[in-house]
Amino acid sequence: MSLPTAVELRDVTKRYNEIVAVNNINLIIHKGEIFALLGPNGSGKSTTLKMLLGLVQPDAGEINVLGINVQEDPVAVKRQVGYVPESPNIYEFLTGIEYLDFIADIYTVPAEEKKQRITEYLKAMDLEGREGDMINSYSDGMKKKISLISAFLHKPKLLILDEPLNALDPRSARIVKDFLQELKAQGVTTILSTHVLEIAEAVCDRIGIMYQGSILALGNMAELRQRASLPSSGLEEIFLKLTGTGDLKAVVEELLK
Ligand SMILES: Nc1ncnc2c1ncn2[C@@H]1O[C@H](COP(=O)(O)OP(=O)(O)OP(=O)(O)O)[C@@H](O)[C@H]1O
Ligand SMILES: [Mg+2]
Repeated sequence: MSLPTAVELRDVTKRYNEIVAVNNINLIIHKGEIFALLGPNGSGKSTTLKMLLGLVQPDAGEINVLGINVQEDPVAVKRQVGYVPESPNIYEFLTGIEYLDFIADIYTVPAEEKKQRITEYLKAMDLEGREGDMINSYSDGMKKKISLISAFLHKPKLLILDEPLNALDPRSARIVKDFLQELKAQGVTTILSTHVLEIAEAVCDRIGIMYQGSILALGNMAELRQRASLPSSGLEEIFLKLTGTGDLKAVVEELLK
């Protein structure tokens, strides 16, 4: 039995002049799945996520998100998706509460629900009491939290989170991880990128490892272990082996010279 599809990329390529950021990838993500994209810096994770939202146009291929062709109707996609970019792009001269109010209005969240959700999420993220302060006075982690809350406010069916736990303290990271699991139980699909391998291992159903714009390996932990011929290893060993960054000892020795 095949699971319902949330996202499909077919033969997708994106070039920036000579750089092939994403190189002919094919990928299906199922509804209700938590899926992680892993890969070294510059391997094409953020570019892939941006293409899912129509923020970056592919040079070739087709992308379907929740049954919508992204190139044809990017606005319809954005309506149903919650997105947290790598570096939060928030209006620094609004207060936290003004910003969240503004975003909820863009997504036409009804007034009562808006109030209730904002209060609930601010509390969950330990931001209660700081919502009246200007965002430019927030720490990096606090900005990330506001960005996460703003992505959850309209109850999207799909979450696209680019390094969502960056800058978060362990307690906040745990809250977000638990929240993603809860949303999964409600049928929400999450696609995230991360460098924190422990999170991918603990929270995600499947993992795609990107390298130089291609998906090198794809599957659950057992499948990745098999692919890397490392039957009892954790994700870190698998990642380092598959991405060819295994010879770290030599690199460290070189740095210490
Ligand atoms: N706007 C842009 N203009 C030119 N090149 C770009 C642009 N955005 C990305 N690239 C290039 O595309 C490649 C993939 O970048 P991308 O940001 O997708 O990587 P990433 O896997 O998200 O990396 P990181 O782990 O550092 O976030 C890189 O070589 C990058 O320099
Ligand atoms: Mg990135």
